[in-house]
Amino acid sequence: MKAIQFTEFGHSDVLKFIETDIPAFNENEVLVKVSATTVNPLEMKIREGHFQKIMPIEFPYIPGADVSGTVESVGSQVTRIKPGDAVYASTYGNTYAGYTSLNQELVALKPKNITLVEAAALAIPLATSYSLLIESAQLQPGQKILIHGASGGVGSVMVQMAKILGAYVIVTASATDAGRLKLLGADEVIDYKTQDFTQLVKDVDVVADLVGGETQNKSFVVLKTGGKLLSIVMPPSAELAEKYNVSGEFIMATPSYKKLAYCEQWILEGKIKAQVAQTMKLEQAAAAQDLVSKGGVKGKVVLEIN
Ligand SMILES: NC(=O)c1ccc[n+]([C@@H]2O[C@H](COP(=O)([O-])OP(=O)(O)OC[C@H]3O[C@@H](n4cnc5c(N)ncnc54)[C@H](OP(=O)(O)O)[C@@H]3O)[C@@H](O)[C@H]2O)c1
Repeated sequence: MKAIQFTEFGHSDVLKFIETDIPAFNENEVLVKVSATTVNPLEMKIREGHFQKIMPIEFPYIPGADVSGTVESVGSQVTRIKPGDAVYASTYGNTYAGYTSLNQELVALKPKNITLVEAAALAIPLATSYSLLIESAQLQPGQKILIHGASGGVGSVMVQMAKILGAYVIVTASATDAGRLKLLGADEVIDYKTQDFTQLVKDVDVVADLVGGETQNKSFVVLKTGGKLLSIVMPPSAELAEKYNVSGEFIMATPSYKKLAYCEQWILEGKIKAQVAQTMKLEQAAAAQDLVSKGGVKGKVVLEIN
């Protein structure tokens, strides 16, 4: 099968297009013929070696964290999924490839009304938005949420989910994304390049931080007492959380088919739509990663395979 692999940390030129063996799979695994995977910022952090302390990898390494495709074979203990099923999942590595083997607990059936490209674009955003909004925030109708980084791959799905859950949704993004984000459900869009959100927002129940850094540190002030600062980028300061009488939590979204299945009805009803910015070929993985690293991408960059 074809794959993208690297054997040293570095810039995108360490990514090599190779031919390698189709992976083996065990009794609890599903072998998927991959149709699409997407480029996530996590892949660049791993490629540059920044994640070795948190999620160590060994060389040679095939990157990738999400996948859609068709089931080729299943292990003897797999009953929910069968060969020929169209599926999607988020996972840990090995998806920039023609085939990948996945634990059955990760693999969800693709909703019938979306393409395999759209399914790949939804896997991580859905699992991450579910983890933050439903598991951690327990977002309630009428609550006010501020989502930083709303125009990106995760954010543009989180906006849709927050709206479905009945929240009042304020977002920060580039001005060029304001129209698209309003269509997705944002009630207010703040241009992070020219406006200071701390002067425009107050008393929010939840801050969803998809950006980190100074944006996160400045966010404590806009929360109401007892509010929640939830970040998928870096752990919030415990000191600032105490000072402002709020809670802070870093969320590492764990993949599971159950999270994707929970959201299926919203996809079938057209309430959550994939945000595909661009599709490229697997062979163009290095250029695709550079494109996402540069910023300004409206949603997901998807790599098509097979
Ligand atoms: N912990 C987890 O489980 C988990 C899961 C998924 C992702 N993540 C992390 O979450 C982050 C977002 O992921 P993603 O896939 O959505 O990335 P992405 O597609 O690259 O989107 C990032 C977005 O942030 C916007 N942005 C940059 N600086 C901003 C600022 N100061 N204020 C407001 N918006 C800003 C960018 O807009 P412009 O391009 O217009 O500047 C871009 O649309 C990444 O760091 C990723 O590694 C964590």
